[in-house]
This record gives sequence, structure tokens and C-alpha cells, in this order.
Amino acid sequence: MAYLVWTPELENQHPQMDQTHREFVELMGQVEAALGGEQAQLLQRFDALHEHTVAHFEQEDRWMADTGFAPDNCHSSQHRQVLDLLKEVRRLVVDENQQDLIGRLLPELATWFEQHAQAADSALAFHMSQVGYDAATRRSERPVEAEEAISGCGSSSC
Ligand SMILES: [Fe+2]
Ligand SMILES: [Fe+2]
Repeated sequence: MAYLVWTPELENQHPQMDQTHREFVELMGQVEAALGGEQAQLLQRFDALHEHTVAHFEQEDRWMADTGFAPDNCHSSQHRQVLDLLKEVRRLVVDENQQDLIGRLLPELATWFEQHAQAADSALAFHMSQVGYDAATRRSERPVEAEEAISGCGSSSC
């Protein structure tokens, strides 16, 4: 059984976000499938996951910035923490030969993602629908006033 599988609970009724999340689940599966195999292939797949995650988080951070979240909001800081962790894991694997770290990270990352998608990301998707945000034009029909900038995630997690 894979650490992370796509389930209807992960669906946030936002096609672009959901598509990105499906890709994340797929890339996680590819890293998992390479565990115990060739180190070069494992690293290559880990890098693909990392690169995708950078773009995934940038996309959500941009949506938040466009729809009235403060720059230091808690959802974006969760993204930064995960990216720092991915970078550090790669460094430890490559520079300090801690080969087993990716295998130890994956179940943690899977749990984190399930929780994050259903809390912070779900709240963001709901917020975007509330303000009538169009990701293509980056405009909202009912924008949030600047003085009401959102610093939390809009979910119970922070
Ligand atoms: Fe996400
Ligand atoms: Fe997120």
C-alpha cells in the first residue's frame, strides 16, 4: 500500500489545485517506487518531486497574495517549512550519505500533505470561491480590503 493515495477527501473542488495535488500524489508514488533501488534514480525522482512542490507552493502563495492574504500568513509559512525540509533532506543524503532519509521522510510527508490539503488548501479553495477569484486573470469579483489582510489559514489548524 502506497504511503499516499488519491482519495475523494483530497478533492477541494478547485480543478487547478486538485490537478496539482494529483500530480504531487503521483510523484510521491514514483519516489516511493524507487526506494531500495538505484540511488541516482531515487535522487532524480526526489528532485522531480521537489521541483514540482516549489511550483505547487508558488502557485498557492500567488493565489493567496492575490486574494488578500498577508505575506507572512500561516499557510505560506507551512509551505516554506516543507521546502526547507526537502532541501535539507537532499543535502544530508548527498553530502552526508544519509541514504535512508528519503524513505523516512515519505510517510511523514504523506501525512502532512493529507492534513494540509484538507485544512489549509481546502480553506484557500473555499476563500477563492467566496471572493470570486479567477486564476487566469488574477482578479477577484469581491476583493478583500487591504486592511483585512488574512494572516491565518482560515482553517482550524492555525
Ligand atoms: Fe497544495
Ligand atoms: Fe498549501
